Amino acid sequence: MNLILMGPPGAGKGTQSQRIEKSHGIVQLSTGDMLRAEVASGSDLGKEAKDVMESGGLVSDELIIAMISSRIDQDDCKKGFILDGFPRTTPQAEALDAMLTEKGLMIEHVIEMKVDDEAMIKRITGRYTCAECGAGYHDEFQKPEKEGVCDQCGGTEFTRRADDNAETVRGRLQAYHEQTAPILSYYKEKGAVKSIEGMASIDEVTEQLNAVLG
Ligand code: AP5
Repeated sequence: MNLILMGPPGAGKGTQSQRIEKSHGIVQLSTGDMLRAEVASGSDLGKEAKDVMESGGLVSDELIIAMISSRIDQDDCKKGFILDGFPRTTPQAEALDAMLTEKGLMIEHVIEMKVDDEAMIKRITGRYTCAECGAGYHDEFQKPEKEGVCDQCGGTEFTRRADDNAETVRGRLQAYHEQTAPILSYYKEKGAVKSIEGMASIDEVTEQLNAVLG
C-alpha cells in the first residue's frame, strides 16, 4: 500500500507516519528528513537546501523529484510507502504520477489532515525529537513517560529543528497555502482524497487513519 499524507506544517504527518510504519509495515518517506540528513552531511544538495529550509521556502522541484525517485527504488519500499511532505507543488505531483507509471506503481490513498493554522505554531515550537532514534515528542502534547528519557530507545539527548521557530513557521504555512494546498484539487478531481480531522488528539487521529487504511 502506498499513500500520501497531506497537511500544513505541524498537521501531524510525521507523528502519524511513525505509527503507520509500525502498524502497517510500510516505510515513511519524509522529504524534510531526507533534506535534513543532506544538510547534516554537508553534501552539495544539503548546501543548496540549507538556506531555503531555514527561510521557510521550498527547495527546487528538480532536486526533490530526483531524490524521491531514487528513494522509491530502494528495497525497503517494496512493501509500500508513506509520502510525508511530498508532493508539495503541482510540478512535483505531475512528476510523481509520471514516475509511478514508469515504475508500475500506484497511490492507493491521498489523505488530507485538516487543521487550524494558529494551533500549528504551538505544535511546532513545542516539538522535539530523540537524537538517537528520531522518535517525536512535544513539550505539552506528547511527553515521554519518564521525563528526559526516550520511550523508544532510552536515549537522553534530544534535538529541536532549526526551522521550528514562530517566524519560519509562518513562512512555511504561507508556502503550504500558496503552493501545496492547490494540489488537493488536482487529487480531488481524480476522486482520490479522503479528509480527516487533524485537530483531534494524536490517538484519535490514528484511529481515523486506521479506519481509512484498514
Ligand atoms: P518538512 O520536514 O516536511 O516539514 P513540514 O511539512 O513543515 O512538516 P512538519 O514536519 O513541520 O510537520 P508534521 O505535519 O510532520 O508535524 P508533526 O507530526 O511533527 O519540511 C521542512 C522543509 O524542507 C520545508 O519547509 C522545505 O523547505 C523543505 N522541503 C521538504 N519537502 C519538500 C518538498 N517536497 N519540496 C520542496 N521543499 C521541501 O507534529 C508537530 C508537533 O505536534 C509534534 O511535536 C507532535 O507531537 C505534535 N502533534 C502532532 N499531532 C498532534 C495532535 N493531533 N494533537 C496535538 N499535538 C500533535
